[in-house]
Amino acid sequence: MTTHTTRIAVFCSGNGSTFKALFQAIRNKTLPAKIVLCLSNRARCGAMEFAQQNGITTLHITEKQFSSFEEFATAMVERLKEHKIDIILLAGYMRKVPDAVVAAFPERMLNIHPALLPKFGGEGMYGIHVHTAVLEASETETGATVHFVNEEYDKGKILLQRTVPVLPYDTPETLAARVLACEHALYPDALEKLLTLQRS
Ligand code: GAR
Repeated sequence: MTTHTTRIAVFCSGNGSTFKALFQAIRNKTLPAKIVLCLSNRARCGAMEFAQQNGITTLHITEKQFSSFEEFATAMVERLKEHKIDIILLAGYMRKVPDAVVAAFPERMLNIHPALLPKFGGEGMYGIHVHTAVLEASETETGATVHFVNEEYDKGKILLQRTVPVLPYDTPETLAARVLACEHALYPDALEKLLTLQRS
């Protein structure tokens, strides 16, 4: 019996360290999946460079390239269909995903968030802002969450979560680095869980 290799699109906006961790983990764990597309709102960023160096197709697509948000959303869905994408993984994608794309990938789009959702999520809670808020709230632990994406920002069903301690004298930057290391292990584990769920 031949098993279909799950075709993944990763959406990124920044350094792409999470994207790299996913790419390497798929190889190391020999998961039945392949990253076939790196989509970004930025033509040049760490993630896009890494994709180009590793023979992964890149797609730079932003709202500004279209005359309306609807056209942008339609084009994004079309491109994803052209590439026969099965799963979308958001990895530091700092734009809202159009509802039309969310609707086209029910239970097939994941996001990683650098906190223990439902705490410290929602509009404006991304990157370093999350860790600043965690420290301001005097939390003793934080963590990372992988969740399904729905139309509500950071509110989709949680797939996997892992905690990280907040240490005395942490700055937003030291905390961000500790959480990011956790994310790099958590996201591949969550992907593996999703693939198992889909195949059971
Ligand atoms: C990660 O910490 C990810 O959780 C966060 O951006 C970082 C991306 O780093 N995403 C969000 O805050 C989304 N709400 P990377 O570009 O090195 O992978």
